[in-house]
Amino acid sequence: MKSWAIGILLSILPLAFADVAPEITTLEEGYGYVAKIPCLGCPFLYQDTSSGKDVPWSSREDDNALLLNVSLTYINSNLQLNGQTVWPSASILPGIHSAQVVQDLSTSDISKLVESGQLETSHETGVGGAFLGLSYHSSIHPLKDSAALVIHFDIFEIYSDLPMESLTHALDDERQKMLEIVLIQKPIMSALEDASYEITKISLIPHPKSPSWQQTMRYLEWDKFGERGTSSHFVSSLSASFLMFLDSGVWALFMFILGVIAVFMVVCMLCILSLEWWQDDYKKAQTGKRRKSSGKRDVEMGKLQFKSPEELGLLGRGRVVGLGKSD
Ligand SMILES: *[C@@H]1O[C@H](CO)[C@@H](O)[C@H](O)[C@H]1NC(C)=O
Repeated sequence: MKSWAIGILLSILPLAFADVAPEITTLEEGYGYVAKIPCLGCPFLYQDTSSGKDVPWSSREDDNALLLNVSLTYINSNLQLNGQTVWPSASILPGIHSAQVVQDLSTSDISKLVESGQLETSHETGVGGAFLGLSYHSSIHPLKDSAALVIHFDIFEIYSDLPMESLTHALDDERQKMLEIVLIQKPIMSALEDASYEITKISLIPHPKSPSWQQTMRYLEWDKFGERGTSSHFVSSLSASFLMFLDSGVWALFMFILGVIAVFMVVCMLCILSLEWWQDDYKKAQTGKRRKSSGKRDVEMGKLQFKSPEELGLLGRGRVVGLGKSD
């Protein structure tokens, strides 16, 4: 073949493949990405709707991938995967779902999904397959000698209950890749500002030789209260059911009865108190009388003794004279 022909072929070749969406699509530099993670050896779930809407899902062999909407919020810097916060990490790991799509999903399909806001529910758009539950490992490590954080997210199993027989598939192909995200802290402009981050690198990388996972979420063993069967799950589900109880009508009824009892008690207390008051008043009146009468006697007996010379002086002559007169 002539060299110019090879040249043309080489320049056309990338065009033929250019339409297939890359592993990472940038939506917004530093904050928003779509990761397309090839799901090696995974059965592809699909629904043949040509013969009606309610046909069961089936699976076929077809190269496929999982989509993740990777986004970092401007405020508080939360890293979210398909709407679930994975960093800062919580003790209860979120359940993350992902759309399964054919591996050769095109760039324009991705933009369609993004524009219609159906990146996380692509089974409704027709381009994708099912919506799968993910079991994953994750770890977060500071990068040596820097303020950067390296986040690893590894999907090790997918689950779906869409087919007649629910599907669980382990991603145990050794070529299976995982997601690596590097966050870097932005310079702080003022003392009032909180530290905020930016995604500086995002890529799919091979598995580490000796993984050191910090957290593992098994889709079927976890629910919104954490891992089933653990004590923390018990505590959080108990407190949640108590909250639900507070929310429910049972609580309203309980409050109503409590209110009636409280009013009744207040009325009783008032009755008892006023009775005691009345008795008190009566007693006071009695002792008062006695005191008054004894006081009168004192005054009568020692009228002059209680007056100081100044007082007597202030009273004026007339009265002193008057007193003298009465004596
Ligand atoms: C991706 O996730 C973020 C955060 O949950 C959300 O605001 C955004 O709308 C999502 N993007 C798409 C295309 O679904």
